[in-house]
Amino acid sequence: MKLWGGRFTKPTNQLVDEFNASIHFDKKLAKHDINGSLAHVAMLKKCEIISAEDADTIAEGLKKVAEKIEKGEAELSEEHEDIHMNVEKLLTEEVGPVGGRLHTGRSRNDQVALDMRLYLRQALVEINGLLLDVQRSLTNQAKANMDTVLPGYTHLQRAQPVLFAHHMMAYVFMFQRDVERLQDSWKRVNKSPLGAGALAGTTFPIDRGYVAEQLGFDGITENSLDSVSDRDFVVEFLANASMVSMHLSRLCEELIQWSSAEFNFIELDDAFSTGSSMMPQKKNPDIAELVRGKTGRVYGHLTGILTTLKGLPLAYNKDMQEDKEGMFDTVETLKGALGLFAPMLETMKVKQQEMYQAVRSDFSNATDLADYLVGKGMPFRESHAVVGQAVLHCINQDKYLLDMSIEEFQEFSELIEEDIFDVLKPETVVNARDVAGGTAKNRVEEQLTKASQLFGQTDQWIQEHEKITGQTAL
Ligand code: ARG
Repeated sequence: MKLWGGRFTKPTNQLVDEFNASIHFDKKLAKHDINGSLAHVAMLKKCEIISAEDADTIAEGLKKVAEKIEKGEAELSEEHEDIHMNVEKLLTEEVGPVGGRLHTGRSRNDQVALDMRLYLRQALVEINGLLLDVQRSLTNQAKANMDTVLPGYTHLQRAQPVLFAHHMMAYVFMFQRDVERLQDSWKRVNKSPLGAGALAGTTFPIDRGYVAEQLGFDGITENSLDSVSDRDFVVEFLANASMVSMHLSRLCEELIQWSSAEFNFIELDDAFSTGSSMMPQKKNPDIAELVRGKTGRVYGHLTGILTTLKGLPLAYNKDMQEDKEGMFDTVETLKGALGLFAPMLETMKVKQQEMYQAVRSDFSNATDLADYLVGKGMPFRESHAVVGQAVLHCINQDKYLLDMSIEEFQEFSELIEEDIFDVLKPETVVNARDVAGGTAKNRVEEQLTKASQLFGQTDQWIQEHEKITGQTAL
């Protein structure tokens, strides 16, 4: 008989059991579910809602159930619908009818909201750690490339040269915002909804704060209806994860372009590349492509949950069971992608000569010639036109600015002197951007210093929060 079977006269249709069940995916919550139950039963004992003896029996039983599930020895069945009822069933098999006291003052509605928060808390800490690894790999590439110059692009046209280190650091600060967003979301995730009951609270003299404290929550949710209806934290996580995916995808795109023969700026390590079944010469950036592709499913999950929640009346509705698969899949997708990205970036070969050659064969120092003339007193609009003429002259002659002689330069402006050859060198051009946040080497060094402070803060955040998510009665 079903745990809720009392008012029914017929067994459930088997198709209903199959369709209604969530056990095949919410079994992922087992550890958190049992952890939450241990806190709940400790509270029932403390508040003398059930006897100390019964509470202890239940707690022991729950630990055994956890062990069995962990070892794959427990039978989780569709007939018992979800992880909550499966655990209760297993507990009762373990300790007898006293197991039936566990659910006193609690509903699956507040229970599942609790489990989701416990699960997400742990994921937040893990994803933060993986983002930090990626940031560190990017920083290591930056440190190894403090003199590597490559063309910087706008409209995917060569624009002005930048340090490769500067380019890597752009992603470090991009991912830093993701780290900060995920950390900020913690305060909305880390509240205990347990005690909301099915929707209205409970008649038992429970102590919600005690449950919250045991599980390392910062406090309890304020309103029982909101507590069981709220999945904002799932939406928020999926939005933040979408942003991470979008950032990863942009980086993927650059890695894919850079490793093409047309760019030839990097080579991904063999260990992080794949071949073709037909073309023996091929070495493909599959991982970068796949990570770029997986952005689609993450955005899809965000759209999915927003659509599921739209229009739901208070309080719990079964629609909300649809909150899980998208969240689990997103956590796994991000963990997989970030976990690969750190070593893939770390082992990537940066083709410094090729990058330099690309800078040397473009007009990305044209702005510097214009700025030079401004320094000699010419209005910028005028110098812009003069340099435009010089560029046109070079294009017609199939050469670049640095290939011109001083006499040629002076045909465009008398103001140009011998020092122009130094001014237009890629290194000089880069180091002339000596402004806070600019690409000059000393400014990139400042970014590295700042990043290392930020990494220290993230490290500390992870350590502190790992203590909380590791706080388990199991
Ligand atoms: N499996 C359900 C879910 O994931 C648990 C809550 C079910 N509550 C209910 N009243 N049927 O949402």
